[in-house]
Amino acid sequence: MRVLGIETSCDETGVALYDSERGLLSDALYSQVKMHAEYGGVVPELASRDHVRKLLPLIREVMAKAELQLSDLDAVAYTAGPGLIGALMVGASTGRALALGLGVPAIGVHHMEGHLLAPMLEENPPSFPFVALLVSGGHTQLVSVTGIGEYALLGESLDDAAGEAFDKAAKMLGLDYPGGPLIAKLAQQGNRERYRFPRPMTDRPGLDFSFSGLKTFTLNTANNARDAEGNIDPQTMADIACAFEDAVVETLAIKCRRALQQTGMKQLVIAGGVSANQRLRERLAEVVKKERAGLFYARPEFCTDNGAMIAYAGCQRLLAGQSADLTILARPRWPLDTLDGL
Ligand code: KG4
Ligand code: ZN
Repeated sequence: MRVLGIETSCDETGVALYDSERGLLSDALYSQVKMHAEYGGVVPELASRDHVRKLLPLIREVMAKAELQLSDLDAVAYTAGPGLIGALMVGASTGRALALGLGVPAIGVHHMEGHLLAPMLEENPPSFPFVALLVSGGHTQLVSVTGIGEYALLGESLDDAAGEAFDKAAKMLGLDYPGGPLIAKLAQQGNRERYRFPRPMTDRPGLDFSFSGLKTFTLNTANNARDAEGNIDPQTMADIACAFEDAVVETLAIKCRRALQQTGMKQLVIAGGVSANQRLRERLAEVVKKERAGLFYARPEFCTDNGAMIAYAGCQRLLAGQSADLTILARPRWPLDTLDGL
């Protein structure tokens, strides 16, 4: 089955073509990051308009790269939520209409299910069951996964998501949006010994997270380090970035270890934009070694938003006989644990 996948939930237009027999045939991505950078975050209205501008050219691009025609498609999958409603509507209406025009089934995919299954596109994929740490700009969740659509929430952030915390810390240091990759880069020059930031909620039982206190701690540290002109010297910037990254990574690692112990599962999957973080990958590699478990993640470009994960997730559901009716479904909020199994 050949499935076109469309992702437009936030600030990335992603399109990909996945074949259930041959794997990923082609993919293309357009990031709106530059456009939103001067506003310090995603402007929803601009995001929707840019998806309108880019979606059809990207669909043509992936079809051409795979040397296929639209008539070769067996189905269309689009992100139906959660995300920005205007942005979602662009992909959902285009995907639903394209499928109707071609006379093939369509399916609305849950964005976080897409992230969660993205490591399945890699050479050595995980098998069910596993513990998944979903860490993106909007979500931080630990999930027990026993099959596609069989998701039990083990814990989640009570306030900011991990990616959001990275973005806000970056803003405090005067870095651009999205701040995660920039903090990670700056942290490489940092001195690990200079500051120690708190590891929120790790001293009590449970698998929930909270990053808002860490955010305040970072803001106070940054403000105390400013000179009379309000500037922070480059080494101190790097030291703060390093201490912040360490605190987030260590907090996530402690909870992942706890989740593996609690469930007895032997595989840990990390997904979402923050799973591209090199320090996190290294630290979790140590954790799984101690727990005699395996660690799985997608290649960096499939950790952040992309069309391939939507094509893959949609394909699995379509193969199981699921599909959408003619309603154009777009849900800004959509809890992951309300999804149906296959
Ligand atoms: O999954 P994603 O592309 O979009 C959402 O669904 O939210 O995640 C984007 C988030 C941003 O907050 C970004 O700063 C963060 O992922 N991110 C990173 C890294 N790459 C992206 N955070 C830390 N380290 C990275 N290398
Ligand atoms: Zn995402």
